[in-house]
Amino acid sequence: MVTTRTPLIAGNWKMNLDHLQAVALVQKLFWALRDAQHEFESVDVTVFPPFTDLRSVQTLVDADKIPFGLGAQDLSVHASGAHTGDVSGAMLAKLACSQVIIGHSERRQDHGETDAVVAAKVQAALANGLVPVICVGETSEDLEKFGASAVPVAQLEQALEGVAAGTEIVVAYEPVWAIGSGQAATPEQAQQVCAALRAVIAEKIGDDAAAATRVLYGGSVKSTNIAAFMREPDIDGALVGGGSLKVDEFASIIRFQKHVGV
Ligand code: PGA
Repeated sequence: MVTTRTPLIAGNWKMNLDHLQAVALVQKLFWALRDAQHEFESVDVTVFPPFTDLRSVQTLVDADKIPFGLGAQDLSVHASGAHTGDVSGAMLAKLACSQVIIGHSERRQDHGETDAVVAAKVQAALANGLVPVICVGETSEDLEKFGASAVPVAQLEQALEGVAAGTEIVVAYEPVWAIGSGQAATPEQAQQVCAALRAVIAEKIGDDAAAATRVLYGGSVKSTNIAAFMREPDIDGALVGGGSLKVDEFASIIRFQKHVGV
């Protein structure tokens, strides 16, 4: 079966930009892309601001009809109630979020999120109509001990426990050692792991879902290396951290087709 997957370029702002800076960035980004409507229309773009920025960005995107998706960086496993500091999937859905990052390595490291918690968050996202962007990836120690694929494959298998066949998800392969280090994986290595992850998707939620799911690469993605990743058959986009905070850089990553020549 031949399926064309629309590339997805996702900007993970992490804990950067207050709501005023957030609005300024989205506005400038949109203006930077306006003369590139053609290329830009064939790529999905989602920004993942901090919780405190979501309302302002949503208002701007709505008012100016900016074609960016809006996502959150995390959500609670709980639906509501006495969970101080948590934000529920229903609250995010009300703010027009369509996606939510789950299991980012910084959540796993800073908040001790286990694979069981990640799986519960995937369920919480789906229960609220949010597409989970499930992050998996190995540390440099894992890489040395087990090679590149074993840990991300095991993480994804657990995250997809109980997910129904055909469910829409996004998967992001982010080697922990590549995040924020300036040292991206090679496109060949990333392709190998992304292909292994697609096989997990097929096994867990079916061949059609595997063919339709966007598998992203993340970790030191820049305008100078995006094209090489996008040439790989199992890489359908990128989760971009640092590079998504700079207008020209992120606009250039979104316009990767210019470099790929497709
Ligand atoms: P980076 O972060 O692009 O700054 O390496 C990617 C991520 O953590 O999602």
